[in-house]
Amino acid sequence: MSIRNRLLIIIFVVVLINGAGFLFVTYSCERRAARNNNSNDEEFLTVEYLQKMMFPGGMYSGFMSPGNYTIASRFGNNLLANQNLMSMFKELRSQFVFFFLASIIIGLLVSEITARKILNPLNEIANVSNEIAKGNYNVEIKEAKTPELRRIVDSFRIMKNGLAEFEEEKERTESIEITKTLAAGIAHEIKNPINTVGLIVDYLQKNLNPEDPKKSYEFYKLTENMKNELKRINRIVEGFLRLTKPDVYNFKKSNVNSVIKETVSVLEPEAIKQNVRIKLELCNTIPSVYIDRDRMNQVFSNLIINSIEAMPRGGVITISTDKIQDGVVIVIKDTGIGIEKDNIRKIFSPYYTTKKQGFGLGLSLIHGIISRHRGKIFVSSEVGKGTEFTIMLPEGDGNEG
Ligand SMILES: Nc1ncnc2c1ncn2[C@@H]1O[C@H](COP(=O)(O)OP(=O)(O)OP(=O)(O)O)[C@@H](O)[C@H]1O
Ligand SMILES: [Mg+2]
Repeated sequence: MSIRNRLLIIIFVVVLINGAGFLFVTYSCERRAARNNNSNDEEFLTVEYLQKMMFPGGMYSGFMSPGNYTIASRFGNNLLANQNLMSMFKELRSQFVFFFLASIIIGLLVSEITARKILNPLNEIANVSNEIAKGNYNVEIKEAKTPELRRIVDSFRIMKNGLAEFEEEKERTESIEITKTLAAGIAHEIKNPINTVGLIVDYLQKNLNPEDPKKSYEFYKLTENMKNELKRINRIVEGFLRLTKPDVYNFKKSNVNSVIKETVSVLEPEAIKQNVRIKLELCNTIPSVYIDRDRMNQVFSNLIINSIEAMPRGGVITISTDKIQDGVVIVIKDTGIGIEKDNIRKIFSPYYTTKKQGFGLGLSLIHGIISRHRGKIFVSSEVGKGTEFTIMLPEGDGNEG
């Protein structure tokens, strides 16, 4: 039975009991008054007697019947004459129909308002659930008004966000798995022809260099270009191959600062070329944490390269570390072009890129690596001002996450 019907039945029952009680009290008081009247007794009814009649055993509560108040206020504390009483009870009973109807109308209104207050948020939760079932997690539920419903809505919201995160993570993992399978096939097929072409170019350079110095210079330049392009393809293939490596992590207790210094020393020459200064603000007292140094190297190097690429006219990358409860926090901040608000949620998805030569894989890989360290990565960015990536790593215990 619906909540609305249940409320209606409760209100009808209350009104009926109240009405029956009222009729019973007025009839029995009237009978008593009539008896006294006929016997010409000196006995008068008192207000206390009426009150006793109106609250038999405390079950029949006075506030339910407006008639009770009418009696009490009309008679005050005076002794009541039997004759007066009889006409009073008759009058009260004729008013009873009005009270009864009024109680039912008020009851209907109260039950409708209460049912709406309860049902509206529940209906909304049902609608949002349907949307979620269709895969749409961008629906919001309105704030509930009562504390009990607010608790239900809050729990639902937590569940919805958890599901959305889980779904995103699942999509990400599935895409990475597909990429890995694809990459393994492509890398395998491309690697051998690249090597062969590389050997042919080397052979050409060594043995078929034209004698004419002008042509020889041109020949050398073109073959060098070919070698550079081959190197680039090779690097891409190596990247794919790295993806296909078994997902084994080698967790060792290490100092994050030393990994950062290592990565920076490799990338600094490229940064200087691009007019980018790398500033280190490392905290010397951070605790050692269980990490896979190679993978963390990959994380920092991808972030630094992204930052360099985001500052085509140069700028500053600030890398800082600090200790937090049970771990360390690393912040990598640049003064680059920034990321549009709408794009921020896409950047960790595989294949999302805004670069001509990008694959859109760097950040999704980083996300996977940080998750395996049971860490967290956040980003905040402002267009035209720069971007800041924050990584939190727990101390860990050397067991895989
Ligand atoms: N520091 C940054 N400043 C501005 N935009 C950034 C920054 N880092 C990442 N992005 C944005 O996020 C996108 C995804 O980055 P991600 O590293 O995953 O891929 P990519 O750099 O485009 O390609 P690659 O696979 O070669 O790394 C970038 O294309 C860029 O739009
Ligand atoms: Mg990148």
